[in-house]
Amino acid sequence: MSSVYIETYGCQMNFADSEIVASLLTKANHTIVTDIEAADYILINTCAIRDNAEQRIRKRLHELRALQQRHKQVRIGILGCMAERLQSQLMVEEENVSFVVGPDAYRRLPELLASVRTPGTKAAETELSTTETYADIEPVRLGSNGISAYISIMRGCQNYCAYCVVPYTRGRERSRDPETIVSEARNLFEQGYKEVTLLGQNVNSYRYASENGNVDFPELMHRVASISPLLRVRFATSHPKDLSDRLLEVMASHSNICKCIHLPVQSGSDRMLKLMNRHYDSAWYLDRIAAIRRYMPDCSITTDVIAGFCTETEEEHQMTLEMFRKVRYDYAYMFKFSMRPDTYAAKHLEDDIPEAEKTRRLEEIIALQGQIALENNRKEIGKTFEVLVEGESHRSKEQLFGRNSQNKVIVFDRHDAQPGQYIQVKVTDCTAATLKGEIVQP
Ligand code: SAH
Ligand code: SF4
Ligand code: F3S
Repeated sequence: MSSVYIETYGCQMNFADSEIVASLLTKANHTIVTDIEAADYILINTCAIRDNAEQRIRKRLHELRALQQRHKQVRIGILGCMAERLQSQLMVEEENVSFVVGPDAYRRLPELLASVRTPGTKAAETELSTTETYADIEPVRLGSNGISAYISIMRGCQNYCAYCVVPYTRGRERSRDPETIVSEARNLFEQGYKEVTLLGQNVNSYRYASENGNVDFPELMHRVASISPLLRVRFATSHPKDLSDRLLEVMASHSNICKCIHLPVQSGSDRMLKLMNRHYDSAWYLDRIAAIRRYMPDCSITTDVIAGFCTETEEEHQMTLEMFRKVRYDYAYMFKFSMRPDTYAAKHLEDDIPEAEKTRRLEEIIALQGQIALENNRKEIGKTFEVLVEGESHRSKEQLFGRNSQNKVIVFDRHDAQPGQYIQVKVTDCTAATLKGEIVQP
């Protein structure tokens, strides 16, 4: 019996994976601990999406040396995308790492943990699989509020966007058996959870063939949403190239499917989109936005964008700003392009936009988006939303926060409301990031 501490970086899928790892290790008689000082093993589930994500992990490994001096028995293992990208080379570069395990090899963790007990032993397991979905593993919910949970519905990605490392760190795309997804969601609801988020790199290409016919993403959403009208259903991420009207129809027809779509645009320029291998142009993207608004006028729309991709001109950057003005996103994750080894960009393109220029473009996008988000939020003042209460506000014990269907955070005076409850809140004020409101008695 030993103690394992898990630290997670990166996207929601990585957080979901850590819960699978926790489950596999608990079954093998390890205890998951939240105090790093009590750990025999420290597992760091890593992200490789941008260079700064990797630098952050390397800095963390450096910091951990002091702890390893104090606790000589501690073994550090690297999981996730950085483990997959760098494999055993990572243990050469970072001497205090004893093992690396890629995202498809977590079932081997109990064995690997045992094998690195002898001082000086190292182990690596980074084979990718075409079939592994951990469908039978019931995740151990880590740091959960008991209200919302992630459910992985597929793994991998083979869209090969020119800038992106994910196809190399996560392998081929594969979908998980829908029956196991629905039963995981149902179990969560029976345990008192009120919200599930279905996860995949591109959920629109979810497809599972079985004797009972084919299940695609709209059908899966329909099945999960039918568990109970009191279970909210969200999903991420949707690739614009194949966001179908059928999915929008299903979303519109279930009040518990949250009215929020994350639709990463990446750039507003058609030449950039082509170079990025995104398989859509700005006209197609705007047509999808129009379709969302047609089916669900109250749907919020969020995005990801990259500033300063290879050869991007000032004019093309302006096209991105123009796209933001047209769509008026409720939220955006905004990044400077970071060249990743192995990608199409690394092999065939030049990272020719100077760092300072990338920063300037990014800041311009951030400033514009801040203004748009504030204007969008101002339009919510006076409206009443159903809010799922999540917990105490960070600012004051007298206040709670929750989210509406559109995924906007609303803060309000608590009265006798409890986390996990659905309540009606009328918006009275806002910032660019949060709505403020008051409870409306039914
Ligand atoms: N599968 C999701 C995205 C996963 S990565 C999708 O296709 O939408 C999350 C975001 O990180 C991407 O949408 C992109 O905006 C950003 N990103 C990916 N690779 C990047 C890179 N090399 N440099 C900067 N940003 C990047
Ligand atoms: Fe990366 Fe593109 Fe796959 Fe998203 S769809 S994970 S950006 S390759
Ligand atoms: Fe990062 Fe891997 Fe997710 S690279 S964004 S943790 S799929």
